[in-house]
Amino acid sequence: MNRKPIFAANWKMNKGASETEDFVKSFLSKLQGQDFPCEIVIAPPFVSLPKLADMLHNANAVQNAHAIQIAAQNCSQFDNGAYTGETSVLMLREFYVHYVIIGHSERRSIYGESDAIINAKIKKAREANLKPIFCIGETLAEREGGMLETVLRTQLTDGLKDISEKDLLETVIAYEPVWAIGTGVTATSDQAQDAHAFVRSVLKDLYGAETAARIRIQYGGSVKPNNAAELMACPDIDGALIGGASLEPQSFMEIIRNGCGHSA
Ligand code: 13P
Repeated sequence: MNRKPIFAANWKMNKGASETEDFVKSFLSKLQGQDFPCEIVIAPPFVSLPKLADMLHNANAVQNAHAIQIAAQNCSQFDNGAYTGETSVLMLREFYVHYVIIGHSERRSIYGESDAIINAKIKKAREANLKPIFCIGETLAEREGGMLETVLRTQLTDGLKDISEKDLLETVIAYEPVWAIGTGVTATSDQAQDAHAFVRSVLKDLYGAETAARIRIQYGGSVKPNNAAELMACPDIDGALIGGASLEPQSFMEIIRNGCGHSA
């Protein structure tokens, strides 16, 4: 099955507009003339979306550079109205946003997002034709308690409740073991491959084998230039969602270069 790998930078709460500008200038110059067989995505904070949109719209139009897609890190499950601090999917669309990260473990644990809220956000994103990057993953206690498969199955089943096959095909799953996020501890490639194969088996139960085989599943959690190739060589890993190592143009580029050459 030919799944185009997708490498996405999740900057979290880092880089305002001027730092975004510096990053993009440097990254585009490194990207010049390169044609990696993968998708490249950047998810900046909301306030940096206009700057990123401006720069990439011009760059994608005129440069001989690899196109870069824009992602948001979150969206509201509501259309508009009295939701202080929230951002709607239609507002995101104004800034050429293609993807939206939904259900990141930091949103789940710090902001109390439940599977039901995440499900509502996935639906809202699809209404606006945004592509969800739907994050799932277990804590260390859950893994050590033998709950890995139960946790992943529940997150997938509840998060994708009433999501059509057509909408699933526009969705990317990101498996991010919570214990590997920002800790420097990466899942071994065996641990990651086992979890990804399990995720695909749940998707098969929910949507059938043919659809499951078409869904891209990214790995996230301490992905670095020196482990990207090994992780991406796993048959069920289709790219990476990268936090810390995506903040430097050079390391983000090296992850893409090392990972792309080895994707299944
Ligand atoms: P790190 O790459 O910093 O571990 O973060 C992973 C992550 O949470 C990406 O969404």
